[in-house]
Amino acid sequence: MNMRKSLLALLLTSTIFPTFLQASEVEVLHWWTSGGEAKSVQILKQKLEQRGYTWKDFAIAGGGGESAMTVLKTRAVSGNPPSAAQIKGEDIQEWGGLGFLTNLDDVAKADGWDEVLPPVVATGMKYDGKYVAVPVNIHRVNWLWVNPQVLKKSGVDSVPETLDQFFAAAEKIKAAGFTPLANGSGPWQDTTLFETIALAVLGPEDFRQAFVNLDMGTLSSDKMAKVFETFGRMREYMDEDVQGREWNVATNRVLNGQAAMQIMGDWAKGEFTAAGKIPGKDYLCVPAPGTKGQFIQNVDSFAFFDIKDEAEVNAQKALARTIMDKQFQEVFNLNKGSFPVRTDMDMHGFDKCALDSRKTFEQSIENGGLVPSMSQNMATTSYVLGAITDVVSNFFNDPEADPKKAAHKLAKAVKAAI
Ligand code: BGC
Repeated sequence: MNMRKSLLALLLTSTIFPTFLQASEVEVLHWWTSGGEAKSVQILKQKLEQRGYTWKDFAIAGGGGESAMTVLKTRAVSGNPPSAAQIKGEDIQEWGGLGFLTNLDDVAKADGWDEVLPPVVATGMKYDGKYVAVPVNIHRVNWLWVNPQVLKKSGVDSVPETLDQFFAAAEKIKAAGFTPLANGSGPWQDTTLFETIALAVLGPEDFRQAFVNLDMGTLSSDKMAKVFETFGRMREYMDEDVQGREWNVATNRVLNGQAAMQIMGDWAKGEFTAAGKIPGKDYLCVPAPGTKGQFIQNVDSFAFFDIKDEAEVNAQKALARTIMDKQFQEVFNLNKGSFPVRTDMDMHGFDKCALDSRKTFEQSIENGGLVPSMSQNMATTSYVLGAITDVVSNFFNDPEADPKKAAHKLAKAVKAAI
């Protein structure tokens, strides 16, 4: 169902009562509830409170934010949206198009956002040429997180760089009695893994053709069938208890040595950091197999709702300023696993993973290796993403499913959702 239809349906059934805010209070909806995420959001709260405003937390658990978005729609149609919400990618355009968001241009101009944000990021924060959202960070999706001890114990002496090397290592790890690939379950995790494999198999050009340009030929191609086939092979290297497991619980399995690797965005690094683990020693971060030099971009951001109360509007502006503040950007991103969205930051305190990520981001802008994340709402509309997710998840949950048929189903589903 598209956003307009789902909002209408909610309007007819909504029983949510308004909540009233104290003066100088901002209510912020987000889905940052894992260990590393909760620590990071705490920093935003503290920094806002240092400016004399109060943070009213509106956290809805669930990786990727699907549940958070459902709750947000209910609140918005009842005429009582929060002050700000973690909304990103194409969803910003959809909320903007429905007239829910406010214009932040006065703050953006005063604080020179256009001068310090990469254009590829700034464009996504604007609706109709005006800032309606503020970016927090830049995450890279295509990472492989590795426990080097488990590799060693399994007799794997180098970290896999290609998909073939990945499967060869996975066989050895399995034979040694460990789980090769830590994973959880659910459509969002399925699509995240799928798109990383898609980048490796298709390359950036065809990735864009498929998930940005929605080209039917690419979506139904033999190459796409190969993506599904490779994706399906991953099932053999996961443990049997994936059902209902969140992504951060899977990260924990790498961290504590039950599993060897996880393919996940660098929010996973937030979990290693929260557990006091050191990159290069306790764990390794390397590009996901087959995606060296390429970058699947995921930018977290907060969109701001059109609110009439003057005190709340002032509090909103303070939050927007806090998010773009250099000191906040540094401390937050150190905890979150991402890197700062501002281009004028001193990166001294950052570890190798963040430095590699930033460097690859910059290089990939130049050489065409940068692609927007399909799984994290950066590439296409919520309705097309929903259609892709259904096909991907159904395929993954059915070991008998045929990769060729899946590619054709994908094209059909996308066509129906455009
Ligand atoms: C967000 C990350 C978050 C992850 C897991 C992604 O969609 O961009 O900030 O950590 O979901 O919850």
